[in-house]
Amino acid sequence: MSLATTIKILECSTSDRWIEQALANLDTILLDHSHCERKAAGIAINMMFRYPSFRQLVKQLTAIAKEELEHFEQVNQWLDKKEIPLAPLNSPPYGSKLKAQIRHQEPDRLLDSLLVSALIEARSHERLGLLGEHCPEPELAKFYRSLMASEARHYGMYWVLATQYCERKVVDKRLEELSIIESEILSTLYHEPRIHS
Ligand SMILES: [Fe+2]
Ligand SMILES: [Fe+2]
Repeated sequence: MSLATTIKILECSTSDRWIEQALANLDTILLDHSHCERKAAGIAINMMFRYPSFRQLVKQLTAIAKEELEHFEQVNQWLDKKEIPLAPLNSPPYGSKLKAQIRHQEPDRLLDSLLVSALIEARSHERLGLLGEHCPEPELAKFYRSLMASEARHYGMYWVLATQYCERKVVDKRLEELSIIESEILSTLYHEPRIHS
């Protein structure tokens, strides 16, 4: 899936202010990225606990969780290389605000969970791409570019799962609603540098 295809689902592109904030704080961004990869694996695993008999979902989310843990390990190797301790970091409001959009009744809950994850993956893809393009450290920039394709694939997998369990027109309508909210959340730059600030 190309960058353009993925970004089409995002209501608004990332602002230059985010890129400036990220480039001025590359170490914090790398640490936050480590937390993001661990959380991405956790979200996939948690969904398998909630829907253990949904065969397609379990199959796809197993693959995603494995890949996110590999990314987690790779980012942690970068932290080691740069002697950045794997310290806790408070999260920006992005994830909790998106999670608050997930409705409680099924099958809405399943659909919203899949689409929120799809949007997070699409945004990660976009922002890792920007880091890959603008990061002044060539090796680190190359690393960011190497992760982009998987994040785009993850976006696609969550979207395909949504269409497997829900009607296409319902998926399209809800994705449109959520993508507007996702862009609104990011319209105010969070004061601390984060992948999703
Ligand atoms: Fe990842
Ligand atoms: Fe991902």
